[in-house]
Amino acid sequence: MSKLMIWNILSVLWIYCDGARILGIVPTPSYSHQIAFRPLWRELSLRGHQLTVLTTDPMNDKSLTNLTEIDLHFSYELWNQRLGDLINKGHDNPLKFIELMLNTSSAVIELQLQHKDVQALIHNETQHFDLLMNEFLFPTMFAFSERFKCPTIAMTSLDAPNGVYQIVGNPTHPVVNPDVVLPFTGKLNFFERVISVLYNLVSRYYYNSLLPKEDLVVEKYFGKGYPSLEEIPKRISMLFVNSDPIFHQIRATVPTVIQIRGGKHLAASKPLPKDLKKYLDEAAEGFIYFSLGTNVKSKDLSENVRNVILQAFSELPYKILWKFELDHLPGKPENVKISKWLPQQDIFKHPNIKLFITQGGLQSMEEAIYNHVPMVGIPFFADQPLNINRMVSKGLGLSLDHKTMNKESFKEAVLEVINNPRYLGNVKHVADLAQDQPMTGLERAVWWTEYVLRHKGAEHLKSPALDLPDYQYYLLDVIGFCILVIGIAVCLFVMVVKLILKLIRYFASKPKIKKQ
Ligand SMILES: *[C@@H]1O[C@H](CO)[C@@H](O)[C@H](O)[C@H]1NC(C)=O
Ligand SMILES: *[C@@H]1O[C@H](CO)[C@@H](O)[C@H](O)[C@H]1NC(C)=O
Ligand SMILES: *[C@@H]1O[C@H](CO)[C@@H](O)[C@H](O)[C@H]1NC(C)=O
Repeated sequence: MSKLMIWNILSVLWIYCDGARILGIVPTPSYSHQIAFRPLWRELSLRGHQLTVLTTDPMNDKSLTNLTEIDLHFSYELWNQRLGDLINKGHDNPLKFIELMLNTSSAVIELQLQHKDVQALIHNETQHFDLLMNEFLFPTMFAFSERFKCPTIAMTSLDAPNGVYQIVGNPTHPVVNPDVVLPFTGKLNFFERVISVLYNLVSRYYYNSLLPKEDLVVEKYFGKGYPSLEEIPKRISMLFVNSDPIFHQIRATVPTVIQIRGGKHLAASKPLPKDLKKYLDEAAEGFIYFSLGTNVKSKDLSENVRNVILQAFSELPYKILWKFELDHLPGKPENVKISKWLPQQDIFKHPNIKLFITQGGLQSMEEAIYNHVPMVGIPFFADQPLNINRMVSKGLGLSLDHKTMNKESFKEAVLEVINNPRYLGNVKHVADLAQDQPMTGLERAVWWTEYVLRHKGAEHLKSPALDLPDYQYYLLDVIGFCILVIGIAVCLFVMVVKLILKLIRYFASKPKIKKQ
């Protein structure tokens, strides 16, 4: 081989490995879903890949010259309209929640596909991508992998729903690993086991019944001739889930499921704004940080719940910092400071912090754990009840039900977590364990992304479960066969017994005949 040829081959390889074109899509209009993937977009673009990312919260970082963001921020309007329903109706009823969630996602994604920049991307003949990285709570955007004939990595910003695990061929067990929107953890009682099994069946039914409608959406916005959305997601090469075996329930995973683990979004510390720093420095007794995240708004709390919280706060010897989305909080006690936006990660790093009161968003809890802050949880919806139950079962804090809590129970929980050193000790222990790993979550995600690029997919790691029809996977034919064999055996046995009895009766009666 001539030197020139070697050089050519090398340069082709170089371009391929180090300059892939990646399409990233995170359709969910929720800040926490978006920030979970930002470090990945940043890192991949810095490594020389060309990224186009469809996001509802662009980073707009001019220094990232290899990253193009298509802004889908308008999706929040529809999302916020439906969010109240999701929180109120979905609070105690996981089936209602999943139905509303799927319907809402469907509507949001259709809006996004109509957007002119997205349409331009779909219909640009010269456009191509080597890889699609798509958030997987809903299947429609996977049509992009067919459009660009490229391998796909699916991702979730929380642990994946059981239905998603099934689609990549990862066995799921409703009792060992109940779905992420069910609040069950540890050992399930009989009632919980029944609910978990039924939930798996019914949520799958909801999901499947949406597919024909979504196939029409694909036809409308991508064109004719696409395979069905039942087929396309089966080609997913890898699934990145934002879970880890320390905080989440242990789960057996196939090699195509990568637990990229939490904490990727943790930032280096920045100085606090001056007035905030002064306020926290002066909190000699310590302070409590209270935030319900970005989906649940503190301002949406019922008047009753808000009064319970305010009265409890007024009787505590601590300063309270409350992320509150309105300018004015009626009846605000002296020791409470409100603000619409707060640099949460830097607040967790302040030495005077005593406690974090949270709705149980995964990203917020990761920030608290890694910064050694114990918690009191008040969950509302989605994976929050599960996260809070896991937090309590790990001894990192206590939980309260916003429907039943009163001033006394609220105060009691807060004081117990602050004054009993057990909780802080457990938080430190869990943070230690979570950080002791061969590579960080971000490094793991980048490595596997480039692995999929190098091998143009991961067909060789595909789960054999994907090739099995349902009746084989659930052993229906084997069970049917066993029932048949046992049935036949029982029938034969009964027949033989009957025959023997008949014979006995016959011989018992015969001598009588002889005597006559
Ligand atoms: C952009 O990608 C090129 C290679 O394609 C790389 O050399 C460069 O460092 C990247 N720049 C930034 C700012 O990410
Ligand atoms: C969800 O969408 C389906 C079909 O469009 C509809 O029949 C159902 O009523 C919707 N459910 C809710 C809770 O909006
Ligand atoms: C189509 O895609 C190519 C390749 O990315 C790009 O250079 C071009 O500007 C795009 N055309 C339009 C009309 O967006």
